[in-house]
Amino acid sequence: MGNFALGDWITVKDATSTEHMHCIGKSGCLTRRSFTDDTDRAWRVRFTDDSEQIIYESEMDLNDWTPTKAASKCGNDAVRRIVLISDLQMPLEHQRANRSVINFIHDYQPDEVINIGDITDYTSPSRWSAGRRAEYGMTVRQEADYTRRKHLDPLRQGYSGPYTLLGSNHGERPRKYLVERAPALYDDEAYREDKLLDLDDYGIAFEPLRYDFAPGWAAIHGHTQGISLSRHAGGTAINAARRLDRNVVMGHTHRAGIVNESTGSGASKTLTGVELGHLMDIRKAEYLGAARFANWQMSIGLFYVDGKNVTPHLIPVRSNGSFIAEGEYYS
Ligand SMILES: [Fe+2]
Ligand SMILES: [Fe+2]
Repeated sequence: MGNFALGDWITVKDATSTEHMHCIGKSGCLTRRSFTDDTDRAWRVRFTDDSEQIIYESEMDLNDWTPTKAASKCGNDAVRRIVLISDLQMPLEHQRANRSVINFIHDYQPDEVINIGDITDYTSPSRWSAGRRAEYGMTVRQEADYTRRKHLDPLRQGYSGPYTLLGSNHGERPRKYLVERAPALYDDEAYREDKLLDLDDYGIAFEPLRYDFAPGWAAIHGHTQGISLSRHAGGTAINAARRLDRNVVMGHTHRAGIVNESTGSGASKTLTGVELGHLMDIRKAEYLGAARFANWQMSIGLFYVDGKNVTPHLIPVRSNGSFIAEGEYYS
């Protein structure tokens, strides 16, 4: 079958009904998922072009019919699709948002997942917890175990593609705590974040500082010195982009925003900074005080990489943890 162009409409037909699919890019198309026949899920599916010419016809089990399968039917895969998430801070995560993200990744089967860090909160070894009740709460190993059970295990049950985790300030807490408070016991192998989470066993890569994941783009957590903080969503990321002289996607601020800055004759050069937001349950963030005032936004990133071109998107996550991505509702 041939490839489809961006924006093409494709008709899927069986004997009694017609459904439409919408091509979202060179990589393929997405169903609108309005199939209603639950009794006989094996339908004869036919792709036609605008002039009703049959391009492809096949028997298809609709139980197995996901946007990804549709995409693979729709031609080339020149566009890489990357899902980026940040600041789950488990066990303080928004549980339904975590579940929605996992459902989305299972359904969408992106070419890559990048976790920008602060995946685990590690509340007990925080300097804010020193001498307080929180220092005697969940241990570092209990928190790491929680992250494996509630995020890594379920995610890997339905997605085996590339997954990279970046180092972060929360990820460094156990090692710093030990170095500062019990240096004689320090064991680099045991308390490094990647070791605590057994990332090798999950086939997950670990990048302590920076991951250059696409042409002209760097992913960083954003906690290292030298990046000036902005109160405005995206402002810190564009500061980092200026400093690194490349486009930056980062977390850490818990704000969600994209900022562009063009310079040069005819706006010949554009730098982009993206802050990914967070996936915490703000009610669990006791350090914000009783009223939980915070200029934070829940969000995830979806980036398309088409050769040297990178198209960044932010997908807002609602307060109940649901969101819409590629026209599909996830909860
Ligand atoms: Fe964070
Ligand atoms: Fe952080």
